[in-house]
Amino acid sequence: MLLRTFLRIFVFVLLVVGIYAYVGQLVPQFEEHPPKKKVITAQTGRKELVAIGQELLRGKGGCLICHKDSETGNTRGPDLRQAAVHAPTRRPGLDGEAYLLESLRDPEAFLVEGYPKMMSSALKPPANLTPAEVKAVVAYLQSLGGVEVSTVVTEDDAAQSQRAAKAVHRGRALMDQHACTGCHKVEGEGGDAAPDLTRVAERHPPAELLRKLNDPAAWTAPGFDAGIMPSFAEIPEGDRQEIVAYLAGLSGIAYSATGAASPWSHEGVRLGMIILIANILMLTALAWARRRERREVT
Ligand code: HEC
Ligand code: HEC
Repeated sequence: MLLRTFLRIFVFVLLVVGIYAYVGQLVPQFEEHPPKKKVITAQTGRKELVAIGQELLRGKGGCLICHKDSETGNTRGPDLRQAAVHAPTRRPGLDGEAYLLESLRDPEAFLVEGYPKMMSSALKPPANLTPAEVKAVVAYLQSLGGVEVSTVVTEDDAAQSQRAAKAVHRGRALMDQHACTGCHKVEGEGGDAAPDLTRVAERHPPAELLRKLNDPAAWTAPGFDAGIMPSFAEIPEGDRQEIVAYLAGLSGIAYSATGAASPWSHEGVRLGMIILIANILMLTALAWARRRERREVT
């Protein structure tokens, strides 16, 4: 008797776990927005500035392609653990901080002996750091070298930095990623083989734009040939939504990338419904089992 009850519970639990696992696996990978970039302001504390600088040096700055900031790493450029220590002696007339700033902004102004001219300005691509980010990296170099962190981000640096950090719309980035801009122009950039999409949402509402991405035969822009525009039905739903949200925004039309025209088409809502139904089923099964048990007892 006890064993039967136990077995029943076991099978039941297995079933519930199975349903949840199945549902979880059903949910498409709806890409979330990347975490907000850390914006450096004049109020950013020293410790945080150093931490941001370290992140930039190891990440976006690409500095470790040539340098090392720990025991192991590349030696095409000088060991950065010593940079702040050597800095005050490198260039007559420049103190340590000024030298470090110069070596990032204008590396060719002075070459460390024994090294070739190969580093490009951190303000330019590929590193493309903002002025405030350069200061953050210098703060990290100072901290790394064990000297006083004297670098200060001014309101001016921060303002320039914020302007640069005003990230491109994700939809715009996705249009590059999915090669839309290879054929289409948008906001003045891109190819000429297809219609300019800057004001396309004035001609076609968001729902139609989504349809065009799923099925390029939905309509053909006047003056252009059909059959050239590829289908984007296979790219993630979230990507299509973001692109349409971006195009809608360019025409001043509000469109939420996550809440499509009908709330039922949103994954979150659908998942919620499935979980609700699963819970109702579970409660029903429990109530049924209870009733049977009572009947068995009496
Ligand atoms: C393509 C390779 C390369 C990359 C990438 C690079 N550097 Fe350099 N860096 C060098 C070389 C080579 C030197 C030495 C010659 C010179 O002074 O320009 C140098 C010099 C320096 C110096 C002066 C060091 C000293 O001891 O005086 C600093 C500071 C520095 N780099 C920091 C950086 C930072 C920070 C980055 C990332 C934003 C970076 N570098 C990216 C190659 C590179
Ligand atoms: C290989 C080239 C090519 C690529 C890549 C491409 N398209 Fe197109 N697209 C076209 C051509 C050509 C037309 C015009 C003929 C037509 O309507 O099918 C067009 C038409 C459109 C239209 C209708 C424009 C209007 O004025 O009616 C939209 C909207 C559109 N494309 C969006 C996109 C988006 C968004 C992407 C990227 C996800 C993309 N296209 C990728 C070639 C391309």
